[in-house]
Parts: sequence; structure tokens; C-alpha cells
Amino acid sequence: MDTLIPQENAESTIPIRDSTDILKARHRARELAAALRLGSADQTRLATAVSELTRNVLQYAGEGECRIINASSDHEVYIQVVVEDHGPGIPDIELAMRDGYSTSGGLGAGLPGVQRLMDEFHLTSRPGYTCLMIAMKRPRALSF
Ligand SMILES: Nc1ncnc2c1ncn2[C@@H]1O[C@H](COP(=O)(O)OP(=O)(O)OP(=O)(O)O)[C@@H](O)[C@H]1O
Ligand SMILES: [Mg+2]
Repeated sequence: MDTLIPQENAESTIPIRDSTDILKARHRARELAAALRLGSADQTRLATAVSELTRNVLQYAGEGECRIINASSDHEVYIQVVVEDHGPGIPDIELAMRDGYSTSGGLGAGLPGVQRLMDEFHLTSRPGYTCLMIAMKRPRALSF
């Protein structure tokens, strides 16, 4: 299959409804990072963050959406990911961001882990709506 070179400001939307969608989102994120010439550690960081957030959507909201946005410029690689759902929401964000806090008997490592992996992390939530916006920024690799 041909490799798609991502367009500037290109955006792709992945509906999240089952576990194959998590893999799809994860793959799409890695693919974009690779196409923008980020190293394999950064590709893995981004893919891991996307899979944690989309897994939460599936687990706590049942379904949602993941948008992966290439907002890079000539100087900077800038990948933004927005993950939204219309589930119950997170009543106490501060608590949810704590290492080890889980309402499902999980490790409670997802959200704080994602925050550590990313350069930007914004979480807003209210009953009926949760939105995570994360971003990875890197200086553009020079091409010769
Ligand atoms: N999209 C969401 N909607 C509602 N609640 C959420 C959502 N995402 C996270 N939460 C809440 O925040 C808590 C912490 O999430 P986090 O991903 O850090 O840990 P976890 O999912 O419980 O465990 P782990 O991700 O380590 O398997 C969850 O237990 C859940 O209560
Ligand atoms: Mg989780």
C-alpha cells in the first residue's frame, strides 16, 4: 500500500465503538507521527496516549470519537488529538488525574500517564460530555 504523506492541517476522525477502533486510532496516530518523521519513541508515546484515551472512552462512555490533527508548520511538528464522548463525565477531575485512582479496578495509570507523555494535556468534563485534548510538539526534522 502507498504511504500517505499527510497534508498540512489534515485531520482524520475515527469513531470509537469497539476495541478494533482503538487499534485503528492507535495505528493512525503512529502512522502520522512516522510520516512527520518523528522517531520511534515518539511514535510509541503518541500511539500509547491515543490508545489509553480511546480505551477510556470505550470503558466509561461506551462510544465516542477520536480526531487526529496535523497542525504542523515549517518549523514545528504539531500533532493534536481530541477525544470526545457523551458518557457520564468525570465528576472529580483532580481525583481522576491522580496516579492509582480508578473506578473500575484498573491501575489508574491511564490519564496521569498520558499527561506525562504529552506536551499539552487538557481535560474538560461535565455530565454528558468529556473532552481530552492532547498534543505533541517537536522541532521539524531537517530534510536534505
Ligand atoms: N471518558 C471518561 N468518561 C468517564 N470517566 C472517565 C473517562 N476517562 C476516565 N474516567 C475516570 O477516570 C478514572 C481514571 O482513569 P485512568 O485512565 O487514569 O485509569 P483507569 O482507566 O481506571 O485504569 P487504567 O487506565 O490504568 O487501566 C477512571 O477510573 C474513570 O473513573
Ligand atoms: Mg484508563
